[in-house]
Amino acid sequence: ARDEAEAFAPSNIALCKYWGKRDAELNLPINASLSVSLAHLGSRTRLTPAGDDTDRVWLNGTEQAPDSAFSRKLLAFVELFRAGRALPVHVHTRNNIPTAAGLASSASGFAALTLALDQWLDLQLEPAVLSAFARMGSGSASRSLFEGFVQWDDGVRDDGMDSHGVRLAASWPALRIGLVKVATGEKAVDSRAGMKRTIETAHLYQSWPLQAAADLTRLHQAIDTKDFALLGQTAEQNALSMHATMIASWPPLLYWTPDSVAAMQQVWALRQQGLEVYFTMDAGPNLKLLFEADDQAQVEQAFPGIEVVAPFRA
Ligand code: DP6
Repeated sequence: ARDEAEAFAPSNIALCKYWGKRDAELNLPINASLSVSLAHLGSRTRLTPAGDDTDRVWLNGTEQAPDSAFSRKLLAFVELFRAGRALPVHVHTRNNIPTAAGLASSASGFAALTLALDQWLDLQLEPAVLSAFARMGSGSASRSLFEGFVQWDDGVRDDGMDSHGVRLAASWPALRIGLVKVATGEKAVDSRAGMKRTIETAHLYQSWPLQAAADLTRLHQAIDTKDFALLGQTAEQNALSMHATMIASWPPLLYWTPDSVAAMQQVWALRQQGLEVYFTMDAGPNLKLLFEADDQAQVEQAFPGIEVVAPFRA
């Protein structure tokens, strides 16, 4: 192993969501998904050989307990690469995602860790293989291996090696993502448990793979023709369809708070006034807004404190 390795990976926001696993161990999805990466917002991970012969993990400068869920999941992933070899490591991870943005960091975290491990062990794996490995840490991490628009293919193989992210060539310089933080007190059900519950208890889930496939086609069309209304409408409807399957689960999975609903209604009111703004949501109460550069000032006025990202601006 090298003396040091360091890598960065961006967060990503899915426009067509991943919801449901066909293999829970390898994180193989039931449906293909499509995301946009958040440029400079993400995770940076540094690996150094452990001078004290003990695996240790730091998050944003704070050492994590070895038996914490965070350390255990991370070190189990490192073990996939060490494959039994005695290579104790110190892992330092920093997220520059503003805490106010309420973004999950597992996607960028596992992607950055995968890139750092590849360097540290001098493996020089192909991007597609790195993406398939990152997927085993967290499904959405497969998309954080790449910049810009990324499709994560569902694949057909049992070993999952055809289920990885692929970068789309298209660019959309005017595209903006706005991160709206909605406060929540409760600890949400995590994605893994939420997906399992939805598949096991929501009859409505049966319609999800078809919806996702149709939305994926529409998103490609929107991206190819730079049709922003089609992009926004498809992403918003896809997110609400996913949430419909969650709500139809038992016990019900409702990730929204009254403030989430108020923010949705504000987006709809702005659209009535002619502003081209749409939203998407993941397994939490926060909204991610989609709009174009010309409308940024108006969106910022309507949502004070919003964090705006330009995914394609150099
Ligand atoms: C709603 O990738 O966090 O954000 O594979 O269990 O780690 P695991 O799940 P994760 O799920 C993300 C779900 C989502 C939609 C998406 O990002 O596609």
